[in-house]
Amino acid sequence: MKVCIIGISGKLGQYMARHALARGYEVVGVCREQSVEKLDALKDEITVFPGATDDRDVIRQAVKGCDGVLTVLVPWGVTGYATKTAQAVLDLAPKDARLIFSCGWHITRDGKDKYSWQLKALLAVFGFIGRLFRLVDIDDQVEACRRVFESDRQWTVVRGSNLEEGESEGLPVWAEHVGDPVLESNRTRRVDFALFMVDALTNDALIRKAPAIVSCASESARAHAGAASA
Ligand SMILES: NC(=O)c1ccc[n+]([C@@H]2O[C@H](COP(=O)([O-])OP(=O)(O)OC[C@H]3O[C@@H](n4cnc5c(N)ncnc54)[C@H](OP(=O)(O)O)[C@@H]3O)[C@@H](O)[C@H]2O)c1
Repeated sequence: MKVCIIGISGKLGQYMARHALARGYEVVGVCREQSVEKLDALKDEITVFPGATDDRDVIRQAVKGCDGVLTVLVPWGVTGYATKTAQAVLDLAPKDARLIFSCGWHITRDGKDKYSWQLKALLAVFGFIGRLFRLVDIDDQVEACRRVFESDRQWTVVRGSNLEEGESEGLPVWAEHVGDPVLESNRTRRVDFALFMVDALTNDALIRKAPAIVSCASESARAHAGAASA
């Protein structure tokens, strides 16, 4: 299995690289030129294509021959960075490749997610400040995911809860919709978010799904064990 990680130098990207290498996969990745050195510890085990993740020429080269593409979708700036990244992957990845995208719970596929007032307030404030300073545009990630949802590729959009650092607690559990009691704890270790992304490459049950995930060790997951999907 050969996999490409788009955004490999970030925290999630590096965790995914380690999980993929541990499974014996060949790993290539894309990251910004100035971030290549963040990958020094892995440099003998991976191939890096330096460049912006929305650069179609870079993506075209990086995804060549890949069985899976793991994309960290981040809505940096106000020029449609996430949308262009997602579109490049959708257009240029090999026909049968499994395409896995990361985002947060705020993305909804069918409008049936139920959000707490706290999450709605956080998004409103974060969205306003992000746009004001032209740093982040949450609508860009929404548009990126809309295009993925409409695509007939073999995609999975993994929707992460609040993230924390720490040792792995195991493969997260998931639900179709935010608001499901199993997700109530709203916490996942970042290393396990990465584990879920890599595991999704070989889980056909997740094709064209948008699982919202939570730590399998969280209170809500343990309370509702069996009701959730593992
Ligand atoms: N943070 C959370 O609490 C949270 C919660 C739920 C879901 N998520 C999802 O998890 C994924 C990873 O998020 P993360 O917060 O954990 O971050 P992360 O893994 O550290 O990834 C951040 C990515 O953004 C890139 N980046 C940073 N500044 C940039 C810029 N100015 N222009 C272009 N690219 C830039 C980084 O590349 P460089 O290495 O080049 O800087 C890296 O690839 C995202 O899809 C996010 O929606 C996050």
